[in-house]
This record gives sequence, C-alpha cells and structure tokens, in this order.
Amino acid sequence: MASPKTLPRGSRPGPPRLRFARAEAADAPTVAALLAEAARDLTARYGPGPWSRSPSERGVLAVMRGGAEVWCAYHGRRLAATWTLGRRKPWAIDLRYFSPEPRRPCYLTEMAVAPALQGRGVGGRCLERALAVAQAGGADAARLDAYAGAGGAGGFYARCGFREVGRASYRDTPHVYFERLLPAAPRRGAGGVAAQADSESRRPLSQSARR
Ligand SMILES: CC(C)(COP(=O)(O)OP(=O)(O)OC[C@H]1O[C@@H](n2cnc3c(N)ncnc32)[C@H](O)[C@@H]1OP(=O)(O)O)[C@@H](O)C(=O)NCCC(=O)NCCS
Repeated sequence: MASPKTLPRGSRPGPPRLRFARAEAADAPTVAALLAEAARDLTARYGPGPWSRSPSERGVLAVMRGGAEVWCAYHGRRLAATWTLGRRKPWAIDLRYFSPEPRRPCYLTEMAVAPALQGRGVGGRCLERALAVAQAGGADAARLDAYAGAGGAGGFYARCGFREVGRASYRDTPHVYFERLLPAAPRRGAGGVAAQADSESRRPLSQSARR
C-alpha cells in the first residue's frame, strides 16, 4: 500500500489510535517482519542502500537477551511501529561527537513505522513515548545515528527535537549522529508522562494502556 507520506498534507488520514507495549520474545517474528517491510519500502523508494538491511528474528531476540528494550506500538491488533532502547552503545556510534556531560545516555535504534501508516504522526508519538520511558528510567540523554542521504531519517529526528552533533563514515557508510538531552524525570508519585510511562513499562503486554 502507498505511504500517506506521498499524499498532500491536507488529504492524509488522521493520526491512528495507538497502544504501546514492551515486546516479549514471542513478538520477535512480528517485529522482524515490520523492520523488513520498512526496509523493502525504503529500497523501493530510494534504491538499494544501507537502509535495505534489517535484523532477522534471531537478531531481534539477541537484542532482547542483551538487555535492550524492544517496544511496539499497536493500531488495533496490528503492529504499527517498533523501536529499541538500550544502554549499550551501538557499533556505529562514535562517542567523540556527543556531549560529554550525560552520565546515563540511552541509545535508540531500529525505529520503524509500518509503511502504510507513515506520515500520520505515528513516528513522532512513538519517539515521545520512547523519550518518556528513557527519562523515567533515569537516562539523561537519548542518542542515535541515521543514515545520511535520501533514505536516511535524519530530517525526522531533527523535526522531533534532536540536535545533529556530527557526521562520520563508519564501515564506508555515512552516518549522521543525533542527540537530545533529557531533563531529570519527576519523582515517582509526582505524576506526569514520565511516571506514567515508567509504570506502563512494567506492565505486561496485555495490560498496557490504550492511547
Ligand atoms: C522515519 C519514520 C520513523 C518517521 O515516522 P512517521 O510516522 O512517518 O513520521 P511522522 O508522521 O510522525 O512525522 C513527524 C515529522 O517528521 C517529518 N518526517 C518524517 N519522516 C521524515 C524523513 N524521513 N525526513 C524528514 N522529515 C521526516 C514529518 O514530515 C513530520 O513533520 P511535520 O510535523 O512538520 O509534519 C518512518 O517514516 C519510518 O519508519 N521510515 C522507515 C524506517 C526508517 O527510516 N527508520 C529510521 C532509521 S534511522
């Protein structure tokens, strides 16, 4: 199905209703399938490139076992988006480009929205949720890399409040580095989105709040 991104802004369907949940091992095939679908869509639009690769189901499981949190956004029963939050620095990130102050940075990787739902605000809302969860978990910065060039999503992160901190080629692939500093989360019990995200992140999938 064509992405709503290709439609003029005024004629795009409204933002879909989303439910957020942390993925479990049983969700790995669906997560891998969504990442593969997004990679195929980018390849169809921009030609083959570093964006054409996506992790296998085993790769997603390995990331979970390594301690990173894989998150899902559902539209009804359908997986609408996914992203991964982790404390471990991804291989393509070169720390020399980032602010020296953060003591507890987190890294955002493997973010993708189902092609049919792109351009409807899903990515922006997922990013907000990812940052709230990170902040509630004590992270003081969110960092990521995007592929430079047409198929990269740097413009999306810049639009969502991330600051470009540098560009570098890693294994012959040009990357753009982004960072967003996070203020300290409100204390537990003080309410607010961070506290809400924190409590939600501890709930099992079936009980996650609808939004
Ligand atoms: C990049 C991606 C996550 C954005 O999600 P989305 O749901 O399409 O984005 P949204 O509709 O929430 O867009 C939020 C804003 O970012 C802008 N934006 C979205 N994708 C963009 C891109 N690739 N380049 C520049 N700006 C972009 C939108 O125009 C919108 O701006 P506006 O508020 O001024 O209208 C999604 O398009 C995607 O999954 N792409 C394929 C996979 C990918 O590139 N992942 C990132 C790997 S680094």
